[in-house]
Amino acid sequence: MTPQEEILQLRAQLHQHNYNYYVLNQPTISDYDFDQLMHRLEDLEMFYPQFADPNSPTQRVGSDLSQSFRQVPHRYPMLSLANTYSEADVRDFYERVRSGLGGEPFEIVAEMKYDGLSISLTYVDGQLTQAVTRGDGEKGDDVTANVRTIRSIPLTLRPGSDYPREFEIRGEILMPWTSFEALNREREAREEPLFANPRNAASGTLKSQKSELVAQRRLDAYLYYLLGDELPADGYHYENLQKARQWGFKISEGMKKCHSVEDILDFINYWDTERKNLPVATDGIVLKVNSLRQQRQLGYTAKSPRWAIAYKFQAERACTRLEEVTYQVGRTGAITPVANMQPVQLAGTVVKRASLHNADIIRQLDLHLGDMVYVEKGGEIIPKVVGVDKTRRSPDMQPVQFIKTCPECGAPLVRIEGEAAHYCPNDTSCPPQIKGRIEHYISRRAMNIESLGPETVDDYYQQGLIRDVADLYQIQPQQISGVRGTKERSALKIVESIRQSTQVPFERVVFAIGIRFVGETTAKLLARHFHSMDTLRQATLDQLLEVEGVGQVIAQSVIDYFHEPRNVEVIERLRQAGVQMEISADESAGASTALAGQSVVISGIFTHHSRDEYKALIERHGGKNVGSISAKTSFVLAGDNMGPSKQEKARKLGIRLVNEDEFLQMIE
Ligand code: IVH
Repeated sequence: MTPQEEILQLRAQLHQHNYNYYVLNQPTISDYDFDQLMHRLEDLEMFYPQFADPNSPTQRVGSDLSQSFRQVPHRYPMLSLANTYSEADVRDFYERVRSGLGGEPFEIVAEMKYDGLSISLTYVDGQLTQAVTRGDGEKGDDVTANVRTIRSIPLTLRPGSDYPREFEIRGEILMPWTSFEALNREREAREEPLFANPRNAASGTLKSQKSELVAQRRLDAYLYYLLGDELPADGYHYENLQKARQWGFKISEGMKKCHSVEDILDFINYWDTERKNLPVATDGIVLKVNSLRQQRQLGYTAKSPRWAIAYKFQAERACTRLEEVTYQVGRTGAITPVANMQPVQLAGTVVKRASLHNADIIRQLDLHLGDMVYVEKGGEIIPKVVGVDKTRRSPDMQPVQFIKTCPECGAPLVRIEGEAAHYCPNDTSCPPQIKGRIEHYISRRAMNIESLGPETVDDYYQQGLIRDVADLYQIQPQQISGVRGTKERSALKIVESIRQSTQVPFERVVFAIGIRFVGETTAKLLARHFHSMDTLRQATLDQLLEVEGVGQVIAQSVIDYFHEPRNVEVIERLRQAGVQMEISADESAGASTALAGQSVVISGIFTHHSRDEYKALIERHGGKNVGSISAKTSFVLAGDNMGPSKQEKARKLGIRLVNEDEFLQMIE
């Protein structure tokens, strides 16, 4: 056998073993033997670089080269599906299809709606040639290098299977629950922010600049839609996917051809509970007309096909006993009540704590200690208490009384007019506030002092080394070497990384100093408007209000911050330490016309920025934020929990819903 022949043979074998393992879940050789084959192939490829191939199984490990993503247009736009939430909606859909087809018989394929990121893969001559994200539906990011590392996506199709010469296949990239939980455990240990759900984790991973990292994160992919000029025009969706399974793709096992609404409802009911046993997140069921000819006959609205619809599951709920309410003090002194409950299984994880947000929520729920409470988990990982089963309350149970004094320092709590939260006003000596401010200052999005984390901050605080952020710059290596086993070399490194933070741009300094209500985006806006700490400090309320996106509350908070002599003193010491107090020339730019002429409605709850920040972002990029959906609306920036009536209205008017990530991409 020539080396080339051996290389080709090994590749074919390894592709087959990957398929057995990652798609069929039925490995036929040991990991050890697999590794042996892989090493042999690696060696051969190293010796004979002329036979290199990006689709070789050795290329699944990715690379640590940074890449930026090229935007590529979709050959066929990537549409989304209209959402429905009830049995009645499903019946309506069925009737619409029936009448749209003039009464001729039809089949509906019911399948899982996977909750990940959509991807479009192109194959030419059985080789993966391109993988593109949904983007804005018209064009997306070319993430081929990252997608090659996903083991369940075939790089080359199974030899001998009758795939078309060229086609696209679309599906969902997902992070399985087990990988997601392991990843969050690691992040917790490294004190990095946790991913809220597997979808965000998968999205963060797929957009990573380094394919090596993607390879480590163990993503998975299910495919659910075939496209191409060479597919049989009189074909069927269900049958196409069965074929695609033979070509090597991972296709859901839970697909069913339905011949009546009852069939569909059975499928929905079955999967509503059974989906909890699936290895990946799902958030509903997709219903599609099976015949491609009938699909064409039904056609599309502006945004979605008339031949398909998504039925979304209700958020999952569990009932358990409330044992205790504890209170956390944040860096701004805000008090968050936390429900501590008897552990209960919910959406694949054990839940024992849930945020109660504030005193009003506790009152609205009329919460009593010992109550049986309903906890819900939507798409997010932090569950919430949504109700109480009052029939199971006994007369001796006491209502939950919100605390009157700070659990950390004992100061009497205050509640600011018009605000839901209670605060501990003792910002000078309440430990979690002091430490929280320092933790915020060093965090990645602020000054990014990577060598420090909450634990080191706690240590240095205990030692009396730091009482405010300016103290960080006074730390000497000999003071910290020896603390919790810090070696001399790491002590030097820590001091050096603190010193390096003096180069962090001014706009992040404005964020880092922790003015209440000033998030990342507002900090940028303020920095770009006022250019220096001195002008910001001297700004009047009216001048602050001139900044787009800055309202009364933020403006007053900035004034209050600089009114406090201690803050001014800390800033002076930061200045002496060399921290940037002015905007640099290239930072002054930044606005764009990405949204010029567009009217945008904001609806729902967001994770990356507050509503106000989004409003400001829309304006900064030339768009207009409007209150309610009308025919003139360009799109809805839709967060979680967008109300059903708004969804319905947007759907009726054919107005696109853009999620947070998509929106941020639009203005990138
Ligand atoms: S079909 C034209 N099938 O849900 C129809 N989509 O809003 C194309 N999704 O963007 C989509 N599971 O990312 C289809 N079995 C499934 C799906 C599915 C999840 C996602 C997809 C799409 C969104 C629909």
